[in-house]
Formats: sequence, structure tokens, C-alpha cells
Amino acid sequence: MSDQDSIFFRNFSILLAALVVFTILLIWFGVAMQNNLVANVQGQADRSSIQELIKPVAAVNTDPNAVAAAPVEAVIAFDGSLDGEMIYNNVCMACHTTGAGGAPKLVAAEWETRLDKGMDAVIAQAINGFMGEAGLMPAKGGRADLSDEQVKVAVEFMTSHLE
Ligand code: HEC
Repeated sequence: MSDQDSIFFRNFSILLAALVVFTILLIWFGVAMQNNLVANVQGQADRSSIQELIKPVAAVNTDPNAVAAAPVEAVIAFDGSLDGEMIYNNVCMACHTTGAGGAPKLVAAEWETRLDKGMDAVIAQAINGFMGEAGLMPAKGGRADLSDEQVKVAVEFMTSHLE
């Protein structure tokens, strides 16, 4: 081999080695970029789940149709049940069974003069509430989410169960 050839071989080997190193660097760079990308996407997912966790409990609803679309029944107590006994037991009993605060108990003598007014008037008093001589009857027994109809059936239950 001539000197020329061995110089060529040495330079060519160096060039090849440099290319191999360069190739390895490119692969390493590619893998690193890939991992970085994946980490970024995951990071974004984490961020959005954090946003979900820290979002305010309520937001202003700017949809003008939203209120109209909301089912009215949803705000009525006991899913709108007209079971007078159940409503009495849940809402009215606290006062009317014990007579707390002057509430008339389910005893006929305590209702005579009240019922003289007529059933409609008695029901209206229960719906609207009133301050009488005996004490305060809160409107709808304090349950504003009862419908008028529900108060009516509760009064009917009461007045038909007087001892
Ligand atoms: C916080 C206690 C309380 C609760 C709860 C309550 N009431 Fe009363 N209620 C009273 C009191 C006190 C009176 C008597 C007021 C008076 O005559 O001075 C009264 C009176 C009434 C009367 C008589 C009305 C009249 O014309 O004389 C009716 C009917 C009545 N309540 C129905 C109900 C019904 C139905 C419920 C449940 C939905 C209810 N009340 C829950 C305290 C209560």
C-alpha cells in the first residue's frame, strides 16, 4: 500500500466514524424529541384535569333558553307527591303533633273555630302563613318548595284525622 493509500484510508475511516457518531446522535435526538412530545401531551392532559378540579362550582349561564328549558317540577318538594300524610309527617308534624308554638294539634276541639271559616280559608292560611293569636304559622310550614296543592292535601289529611 502506498503512503497515499494509507492516508486516504485513515481519512476515510475517520469520516466513516464521524458519520456513525452523527447517525447515533440523530437517533438519540429523535428519541429525545419523541419523549419530550409525549411528556408535553401528558402535561396538557394533567393541566386540563387540574382545571376541571379547580373550576368554580357555578358559572353564569348566558343561554337565554336555559331557564325556560329547566323542568319546573324539579323545584317542587317530594317530587311533587300529593301524599298528604307523607307531607304532614315530613313538614307539619313537628309543630302540629306536639302543639309547639301554639300550633293546633290534631284534636277536634282545637279546629272547630278554625274550620268555621271554611276549608278554603283554612287552606289559604296554611299556604300563605299567618300570625294568629296562638302563634306563627309559617307559609307552607316553612317549606317554600311545597306546591299549593301539596299544602292543600296536607291540610286535608290533618282535618280528616282529628281525634
Ligand atoms: C313551625 C311550626 C309549624 C309548622 C312546621 C306548621 N305549622 Fe301550621 N300552624 C302553626 C301554628 C303556631 C298555627 C296556629 C297559628 C294561630 O292560629 O295563631 C298553625 C296553624 C295551622 C292551620 C290553621 C289555619 C287556620 O286557618 O286557623 C293549618 C291549616 C296549618 N297550620 C297547616 C299546616 C300545614 C299543612 C303544615 C305543613 C305543611 C304546617 N301547618 C306546618 C305552626 C306550624
